[in-house]
Amino acid sequence: MQRLVIRGEKRLCGEIAVQGAKNSALALLAGCTLCSGEVRLKNCPALSDVFAACRILNRLGCKSRYKDHCAVIDARGMCECAVPEELMREMRSSIVFLGAVLGRKGECELSFPGGCELGPRPIDMHLSALRQMGARITEEYGVLCCECPTGLRGAKISLGFPSVGATENIMLAAVLAKGETVITNAAREPEITDLGDFLNCCGARVSGHGTSSIVISGVERLHGCEYEVMPDRIVAATYMAGAAITGGELELKNARAGDLEAVVPVFEQMGCRVYTYDDRIYINSKKPLRAVKTIRTMPYPGFPTDAQAVVMAALTKAKGTSVVVENIFCSRYRHVDELVRMGADIKTEGKVAVIEGVKKLYGARVRACELRGGAALVLAGLGAQGETEVENICYIDRGYENIEKHLRLAGADITRVMC
Ligand code: EPU
Repeated sequence: MQRLVIRGEKRLCGEIAVQGAKNSALALLAGCTLCSGEVRLKNCPALSDVFAACRILNRLGCKSRYKDHCAVIDARGMCECAVPEELMREMRSSIVFLGAVLGRKGECELSFPGGCELGPRPIDMHLSALRQMGARITEEYGVLCCECPTGLRGAKISLGFPSVGATENIMLAAVLAKGETVITNAAREPEITDLGDFLNCCGARVSGHGTSSIVISGVERLHGCEYEVMPDRIVAATYMAGAAITGGELELKNARAGDLEAVVPVFEQMGCRVYTYDDRIYINSKKPLRAVKTIRTMPYPGFPTDAQAVVMAALTKAKGTSVVVENIFCSRYRHVDELVRMGADIKTEGKVAVIEGVKKLYGARVRACELRGGAALVLAGLGAQGETEVENICYIDRGYENIEKHLRLAGADITRVMC
């Protein structure tokens, strides 16, 4: 067990290179199972979730190796179609292997992912879409058995909600299916665009990705390719919030402002200056932070739920009252009690959190309960007087590569220690 020890109130200053996007890399790694050639994924972040996905690939009979942010996957020898329960438990998002393995092998067996730190995580839309494409799916004792002996066929699928995971699973299942698949009310997240671009780079025929209507024309086979994973927009937002809460000044390299169009204005309302050019975002926070207009988390291009906790950490010190409405997950305020232990004034009721800015946060011993909430505690520690210890940092390591190293290089006093 490890924890992060932070001595706060040091301004973050300097340059941070933003890692590749976890949520894109995971879908791309699942997509590798569809390719009959070697895939080289560059800018693939060194994260425990990425390594868990590589272990799944190995169990399926693919060859995977990882070095210097490059994952090399060869799925030609893929011989298995079951993802063991212990690997499913390691990473809830392994559900994205369902569409890919089904598309490649015509069958797939994996355990039902169940709930997680963010509350119940149903997969009804994933299953209903795959059924429409011809899959027979049964569930017994928590294990999902999916088969389509005569192969998947294209279908017109209308999602009741633009689910990221369901859109990815349908895309992955559809690229080798017979005929055309049309997804309406598809998720429009940049990670979906990245997945479509990657699949096309492997020879797929995907169009409309990034819009709410995606069309996939099935092809006979996909080949290997070399592809660079997009930058992580949530990690960029996290470091921006770090600059905001410490009154700092950061230049983020390998960051795409275009993916953060709902987030940048929130920092500007707080009083930060944000400049964006090419693949860089510059933020400075010279003035005292101000409260912002109500933030409502929404599917892209709305304000991302994944940035809710880290932005809230900065708002704890913003003068006035800010309101956040979490519309995507029902249990995504678990960081609030920990922030309150550090002196924040936050009240929650259902989806709504009301944040009264305080003058000071104080260091405390706190526990990460999930990935983004954990990152929010680190940021609060950077902005707090005294020493903060963040425990349970395995959650943070799922999505942030070497967070302490990047923050230290920008002037933070933060160390990882063994418990
Ligand atoms: N939902 C259903 N039925 C379904 C699928 C989803 O009811 O069949 C509900 C979910 O319960 C949730 C909402 O729809 O309330 C959104 O779920 P979505 O499917 O869009 O999310 P996801 O694919 O499970 C991905 C990211 C999350 C991110 C969300 C929303 C990955 C691996 N995960 O999850 O990332 O919060 O999209 O943008 O891509 C994170 O990185 O910290 C993280 C949790």
